[in-house]
Amino acid sequence: MNIQLPNRMNLLAGAVIALGILSINTANAGISVTKHNLGSTGTGTNTFDGTQAICVFCHTPHGADTSASVPLWNRVLSSSSSYTTYDSLGTTSLDGAVAPVGSVSIACLSCHDGTQAMNVMINAPGSGGYDPAGSALAGTWTGPAATATQVGSLNYSTGSIVNIGTDLSNDHPVGIQYGGGGATSADADGAFGGATADPDFIKPYKATINAKPVWWVDTSVGTTGVREKTDMQLYTRADLGATEPFVECASCHNPHTSANPTFLRIANTGSAVCLACHTK
Ligand code: HEC
Ligand code: HEC
Ligand code: HEC
Ligand code: HEC
Repeated sequence: MNIQLPNRMNLLAGAVIALGILSINTANAGISVTKHNLGSTGTGTNTFDGTQAICVFCHTPHGADTSASVPLWNRVLSSSSSYTTYDSLGTTSLDGAVAPVGSVSIACLSCHDGTQAMNVMINAPGSGGYDPAGSALAGTWTGPAATATQVGSLNYSTGSIVNIGTDLSNDHPVGIQYGGGGATSADADGAFGGATADPDFIKPYKATINAKPVWWVDTSVGTTGVREKTDMQLYTRADLGATEPFVECASCHNPHTSANPTFLRIANTGSAVCLACHTK
């Protein structure tokens, strides 16, 4: 009896721990269960039987494209001049200057602008297979067929909202200064003490990592003042002179997460994504 009681408690504790792990996994099982698993193990509508790999559609361990500061990118990036940016719309309320399309946004657009098919890559999986100009990996897609202007075999359906196109004037601005400008690398780390050019913005946080400035906008998820994947990431760019924070595609989206619909960093309940940055 004396021995059985602790054993039962251990079993109970084990079950509670197992359930805990299970619930964490359910909340964010990772990229393999998202639409960004394009390989044969994918569960989305666009999958490819040519490889079981997941990361290879976006990253390569060797021979990556270095024309923009995106991690080990396995796709050829378009020229920034091929895009029409949000500021061309001419809204009089816009304060921030728009930098050329670059940073992480141009990496997302290497699929989402609809100019290249998803199976085009620089370094194909397996031995050899390196083509700096990018070539299509052999295999069959389950999904919409490519149009004549696209390189490779798979792309989004024409008119699909996931096919953002090269005209970004109908999309939330990217490559745009945060808050209309104001925060720069000269600021102290921690909560921004100055004023953004447009006061209708939540003040960003800054930290110095490996002697480089990084910025983010804290959300109510996680720990205040600590940069986490559930915070709105701002991207350090120096394209307009000062080294300062910019809003890019991955400010709002985390391309690996299954925790929220449409890869959002936080749930958009009550427009929480929008209110993370905009004081409205
Ligand atoms: C659909 C495209 C895509 C796929 C597939 C993908 N990634 Fe990424 N990954 C990105 C982008 C875009 C970034 C830059 C994100 C950012 O700036 O926050 C990134 C960043 C990263 C980073 C650095 C930032 C971080 O979040 O830690 C790592 C590490 C990484 N990816 C690993 C992986 C691995 C491992 C896989 C496969 C299991 C994978 N990725 C699959 C698009 C992808
Ligand atoms: C390798 C190509 C590729 C890259 C790079 C890529 N995506 Fe995707 N993305 C896809 C495909 C394919 C889909 C699924 C389209 C479908 O099934 O209709 C998708 C879907 C999405 C969706 C919609 C998800 C949903 O549930 O409807 C979002 C949001 C998205 N991507 C954002 C991004 C962002 C942000 C980046 C960069 C950080 C990025 N993607 C980079 C290929 C890519
Ligand atoms: C300021 C935040 C923000 C930025 C920046 C942003 N998105 Fe989104 N995106 C969202 C939100 C929020 C949604 C979900 C909209 C919805 O639920 O209809 C979304 C939805 C999407 C979808 C799915 C569309 C649909 O309705 O099915 C795609 C694809 C996508 N984004 C890609 C991108 C790409 C690529 C970029 C960069 C060029 C980008 N996003 C930049 C906030 C953003
Ligand atoms: C990561 C921070 C961030 C998030 C999250 C965000 N925005 Fe923005 N948004 C900006 C910045 C920065 C601008 C540029 C404002 C400027 O310079 O005047 C902007 C611009 C806009 C504009 C255009 C303003 C103009 O004057 O033309 C609208 C509208 C807008 N956002 C709505 C939204 C909505 C809706 C959401 C949620 C889906 C959202 N934003 C999420 C940072 C963000």
